[in-house]
Amino acid sequence: MTRFALLIRPSANRVYAEAAAGLTAAELAVFSESVLGGALSAAEGTRRGGVPYLEFEADQLRPEHCAFLANVSSLYALFEVSGDLLRPVELTGLDCYDDDLITIQKYQGKTNEQFTKLLLNVTLLASAFAPDMLSRKLTVLDPLCGRGTTLNQAIMYGYDAAGIDEDRKDFDAYRAFIKTWLTRKRIKHKVSYDGPVRRDGKTAGHRLQVSIAGSRDEQNRGQPQLLDVVCADTTRAGEFVRRATVDLVVTDAPYGVQHGSRSAASRLTRRPQDLLAAALPVWATLLRPGGAVGISLNTLVAPRAEVAAALRSAGLEPLESPPYLRFRHRVDQAITRDIVVARKPAVS
Ligand SMILES: C[S@@+](CC[C@H](N)C(=O)[O-])C[C@H]1O[C@@H](n2cnc3c(N)ncnc32)[C@H](O)[C@@H]1O
Repeated sequence: MTRFALLIRPSANRVYAEAAAGLTAAELAVFSESVLGGALSAAEGTRRGGVPYLEFEADQLRPEHCAFLANVSSLYALFEVSGDLLRPVELTGLDCYDDDLITIQKYQGKTNEQFTKLLLNVTLLASAFAPDMLSRKLTVLDPLCGRGTTLNQAIMYGYDAAGIDEDRKDFDAYRAFIKTWLTRKRIKHKVSYDGPVRRDGKTAGHRLQVSIAGSRDEQNRGQPQLLDVVCADTTRAGEFVRRATVDLVVTDAPYGVQHGSRSAASRLTRRPQDLLAAALPVWATLLRPGGAVGISLNTLVAPRAEVAAALRSAGLEPLESPPYLRFRHRVDQAITRDIVVARKPAVS
C-alpha cells in the first residue's frame, strides 16, 4: 500500500476552508467508489510541518486514476508519501481556460466556486456517464443559474452548458460578463442568438446562445462548446431545452433566506421545496436516462427528506449510500448546506 497526502487549495472563504477537509474526504470517497474501483482508503486529516493534509492509501495510482483525481474540487497538490518525504504526483485536470473564468465575478449570492465544482463532480460521478468524465463533451443544465457559477465550471471542463434564471439582473450581468470575457481572452466564439424569445405573440424570456471554439475538445474533435442561457421561470424549462438532451442537472437552490440586497419578494415567499416540487418533474424530462440531478440546499429551510421525496415523485432515485450523506456543512447561522443527488433510471 502506498500513502498519499493531498494538500487542500487555500480558500479565500474562511467558512468554506473550515468545511473543505470533510467535504473533500467525502468527494474522494465518491471518486473512489464511482471511477477508481474502490482503490482509495478512507481519507483522514493529518498535519505535516504544521500544514494540514488529507491522507489516504492506495495499492497504486494508475495514470487513469490520476487523470480523474486531478479534478477533485479542492485539490491543490497531491504527494506520494515516502518516509517523511513528499514526492509530487503529476496531475493534469480537465480545465480548458484561465481560472479567472470562475473567479473574476464577485457578487452577493454567488455560490462558492469550489463548492460548485464539488457539486458538479459528485453529480457527474453519480450518473451513468461517470466513466465519460474525461472523454466526452457532457451537457450540464443549471436551471437556477444566477450569474453562472455552474455554467462557467461546465465550460471550464470543456462541456456544453445551459442555464435558466428568472432574475433579469442576473441574466444581464452574466450575459455582459461572458461576452466580455470571451472577447478579452480572444477565444474564438460566435453569438448565434441574443434577444427576446417569443411564444404565442408574447415575450416568454430572453436568451443568449454562444458557440465557443476555444477548448481542447473543439481543437481535438471539431465540436464547439455550446452555451445557452435563458431568462425565464424555471418551471418553463421544457419550452427552452429539448427532452432527454441533458446529462446532468446541477443547481444551487434558493436558500429561503434573505441575501442582502438580492431579496426579490418572490424569492422570499416561495419555499425552496415548493419550487423544487414544481420544477423537478420538468427538469427530470430534460435528463437523459442514466443522467443525474445534484441540488445543494439549505437544510434549515428545506429538509433533506422533503427534497428526496420530491425527487422520488419526479421518478428520480436519490443516492443514500454513505459518501453521499457526508456533504452537510454549516455556512452561517441561517444556512446549513447539504447536497442531494439523484439518478434518472437508465431504462425508464
Ligand atoms: C442560490 S441562487 C443561485 C446562485 C448561482 N449558483 C450563482 O452562483 O450565481 C438561486 C437562484 O434561483 C433563481 N430562482 C429562484 N426561483 C426561480 C424560478 N422560479 N425560476 C428561475 N429562477 C429562479 C434566483 O433568481 C437565484 O438566482
